[in-house]
Amino acid sequence: MEINYNGFKLSVKDVLNFVSKEEILSVQSEIQNAEELLKNKSGKGSDYLGWLELPSNISDDEIKNIEKSAKALANISDIIVVIGIGGSYLGARAVIDALSNNFKSLQRKKLRYPLVLYAGENIGEDYLYNLLEILDKKDYSLIVISKSGTTTEPAIAFRILKNHLEKKYGKKQTRKRIVAITDNSKGALKKLADTEKYKSFVIPDDVGGRYSVLTPVGLLPIASSGFNINELLSGAKEMSEFLNTETSLEKNPANLYAAVRNILHRKGKAIEILVSYTPSMNIFIEWWKQLYGESEGKEGKGIFPAGVNFTTDLHSMGQWIQEGTRNIFETVVWIENAKRNLTVPEDKQNLDELNYLAGKNLNEINEKAMLGTAMAHVDGGVPNILISISELNEYYLGMLIYFFEKACGVSGYMLGVNPFNQPGVEMYKKNMFKLLGKK
Ligand code: PA5
Repeated sequence: MEINYNGFKLSVKDVLNFVSKEEILSVQSEIQNAEELLKNKSGKGSDYLGWLELPSNISDDEIKNIEKSAKALANISDIIVVIGIGGSYLGARAVIDALSNNFKSLQRKKLRYPLVLYAGENIGEDYLYNLLEILDKKDYSLIVISKSGTTTEPAIAFRILKNHLEKKYGKKQTRKRIVAITDNSKGALKKLADTEKYKSFVIPDDVGGRYSVLTPVGLLPIASSGFNINELLSGAKEMSEFLNTETSLEKNPANLYAAVRNILHRKGKAIEILVSYTPSMNIFIEWWKQLYGESEGKEGKGIFPAGVNFTTDLHSMGQWIQEGTRNIFETVVWIENAKRNLTVPEDKQNLDELNYLAGKNLNEINEKAMLGTAMAHVDGGVPNILISISELNEYYLGMLIYFFEKACGVSGYMLGVNPFNQPGVEMYKKNMFKLLGKK
């Protein structure tokens, strides 16, 4: 079973040793129900379905406004620090990392666009101290993002960095160097941004953090890094239109993916590993982990989302995946074409015995590693779902993002949970606040 659409492919043929085609087709009515709940906004958490229409609903004015702000920040900054946690930074970071030169921060020549760094996604004292040491010597700006406007980690980082900015540039100049992205009306960040007259963007009420990458939350940092947000939105729109035209499992990749992962889960596969074969996708894996983990892990249910980067992790986690507890399946995101060409050179002496690879480019070798690994894993009892995109660019990332979001909504409803809340996240906060004596 394989679905091909405009450079995006989903194949579940390497699942068929574990789940028959009939079994997959037998959940069509469950998929239909889940689709209806999303479409009619009649399921759990239906106040948070704004993401479904985001790629088409965002106005040209909003896009222009985001691009203008991105340019204004870029003009005065060597570095932009994005402050946020969870859904308030992972989407932006996933796209920026996927599209950036792997060694951008080490490039000698002056960068055309600011380097984006991150804060407020941890409370590491040394991390923030080291960041301040770098910022002492650079021109920088802040994009502070919090939907609730009350999350402790980004609030701490923002207070410290705002203080640093004000000492460095004075209060008036600081105003030009801060953009806040938060709720339309509530939360401490909203109050602070209004009082200090910072440029602000709104996170729509009906879009939750982990579904917000196609709002200013993701778009402003991505545009500030010089990437094309119109292309990102256009890939997402293309995918949303495609997924809306056909709900049948055999033609709709989001539904097929949601169906297969739920069937595997019911058969005892408790862990899904998202696999990439390029290091640029490492944070995309983190974004996916959050999307699926927070959406499905509740009420004692849900697949545990894990992630690995191959072939790197074949030399660390590969043994476990091949022969450990047989409760896993894997979903590979494969990029068909590398941006650059690099071949293995011929060597007269061939002391390293690598001449059999001479003339081959690395992506070709990587692909054989991917195919060989899938075969080994299937033989070892690990079902393999394969998602391929033609290239790693804004357009295909937009497609992938929308695909995974839609599949997550359908999959969560199939599982019977509310995929749009995260009640469990509050538990640690209660204890932490008590320990810190918060009133
Ligand atoms: O998906 C979510 O809603 C969460 O992961 C939030 O993004 C995260 O907790 C940060 O919340 P906030 O944006 O309110 O600071």
